[in-house]
Amino acid sequence: MTLLKIARMGHPVLLRSARPVVDPASAEIGALVGNMIETMEDAAGVGLAAPQVYESRRVIIFTAPEERAGEDAPETDFAPLTTLINPEFEPIGDDIAMGLEGCLSIPGITGIVPRHARIIYRGYAPDGRPVEREATNFHARVVQHEIDHLDGILFPSRMTDLSCLSFNEELGHLMEYVAERRAGSGARQAGQEQ
Ligand code: NI
Repeated sequence: MTLLKIARMGHPVLLRSARPVVDPASAEIGALVGNMIETMEDAAGVGLAAPQVYESRRVIIFTAPEERAGEDAPETDFAPLTTLINPEFEPIGDDIAMGLEGCLSIPGITGIVPRHARIIYRGYAPDGRPVEREATNFHARVVQHEIDHLDGILFPSRMTDLSCLSFNEELGHLMEYVAERRAGSGARQAGQEQ
């Protein structure tokens, strides 16, 4: 396994549409996924898309750990470490949630980003099996963030209020300000980078 260099905002690889994978079960994709997992864990992230490691292919990995959600949270809030090849999603219903996001390609920065609160996603595992899951809350958020990377979209482009973009060190101050003006209701605890 190899630790891979992570592309940072401004590099065009993050702005391109990634190409579909022809054979999800190929050894080449298996090796890429192994290196992506090692790289994401080393960077203490919760999601990584192949374009972030300069591979313009439709491959993402993510996790939605149980400890991020409250007690009695539905199972759809969580996911173990998951690899999805050629992923797609569709929203369920019209609910939009505001929440904090970071990105390993935009280190040190967090923003409040609107996302669909409930989705169904599909793709392929590295053994070629189809995967289909329902996702809610942070689980839905991380999947939408990672699939955006495959279409060349970084989270600031999804923000509807760029005044809610912050250095991590200033986030406490921003959240106080947001609470005061009641603009960020529903925003969750600070996220890890994706
Ligand atoms: Ni990201």
